[in-house]
Amino acid sequence: MLVNMHDFEAVAAAKLSQPAYDYYRGGARDEISLRRNRQAFSEYALHYKVLAGVEQIDLSTSVLGMPVSMPILAAPTAFHGMADAGAEVASARGVTAEGSCFILSTLSNSPMEEVVQQASGPVLFQLYVYKDRGITRELVQRARAAGARALVLTVDAPVLAVREKDARNHFTLPPGLSLANLTGTGKETLEGSGLGAYVQRHLDPSLSFKDLEWLVEQTDLPVVVKGIVRSDDAVQSAKIGARAVVVSNHGGRQLDHSPATLHCVQRIRQALDPSVEVWMDGGVRRGADALLACCLGARVVLVGRPLLWGLAAAGEAGVRQVFQTLRAELNEAMLLLGCSRLDELSPDLVERV
Ligand code: FNR
Ligand code: LAC
Repeated sequence: MLVNMHDFEAVAAAKLSQPAYDYYRGGARDEISLRRNRQAFSEYALHYKVLAGVEQIDLSTSVLGMPVSMPILAAPTAFHGMADAGAEVASARGVTAEGSCFILSTLSNSPMEEVVQQASGPVLFQLYVYKDRGITRELVQRARAAGARALVLTVDAPVLAVREKDARNHFTLPPGLSLANLTGTGKETLEGSGLGAYVQRHLDPSLSFKDLEWLVEQTDLPVVVKGIVRSDDAVQSAKIGARAVVVSNHGGRQLDHSPATLHCVQRIRQALDPSVEVWMDGGVRRGADALLACCLGARVVLVGRPLLWGLAAAGEAGVRQVFQTLRAELNEAMLLLGCSRLDELSPDLVERV
């Protein structure tokens, strides 16, 4: 029986090829930030309320005005085709069937048009900026035409940090899988090299706030900036027009020694105008983890690897099970905390221990 995210990971590990499992689970260099993200959740205590008269728990909220059934969304992750033949289509179907929202990576194995069409709820498009601005502009225009509801600009990956497991495995995309959003551009394969080399060849390492300005001008879709750990960066992004920021260190896969994202949430929330949403990701494996992040000021959290474990374990149904499990855990934690709605969550319910 699959009781928690660790169980899903164990099943996924047994099903995936070693290089695929290592790619999904790995972090940068010594994996200090990967561990730190998780560790941070044990560094807060919840001061629960009793006799709170909680009758019904409402986990629903909204992001950028779009209703979602719970404050747990799907983070964009590359290459779902290694986990299941249905790839991102299966993931998006699973996530949206649970009333949540799916963020599709630029580096997906299913094309964005099909993903949006097959999903039963909102799909957002995560953007990597190609040196070739023609390609980037086309991705942006296609995302809007396909029906994506927002653009999520990832800003913590001017280069891909070395994940040493991948280096040892000479990780590359298995035969039969391609970068489905890049078909016809000449950039739809890793060209026999690793992902790091592909990113270095094709993505723009010199991205700046000017490029954020450019993106905001290019589109009428809301723009979300993902990969922020500093309040000054959050404030600057909002000033340029970001409607939300994702407090994230890319799941510990980019700058090792970056802080645990949970520790950054409150500072960033306090620095921003209330109209700008704060989302966070990194190490969320339990409903109570989402609860802590929300107490500290996150509107929602995203899960990266747990979705991949569900997808590898049982395809679309596995993804649904992962979201159902997290929802049940969150529900239990809310009741025990003495809160019935997410807007009752506040920093005075938590203490750094
Ligand atoms: C990622 N992440 C990521 N982010 C992004 O903006 N575009 C991408 O293509 C990817 N690809 C990717 C692949 C894999 C295998 C992982 C694990 C992660 C980062 C992702 O969006 C998110 O920030 C983290 O996964 C969150 O941490 P957890 O939930 O995995 O601990
Ligand atoms: C990764 C990239 C693709 O983390 O975002 O592997």
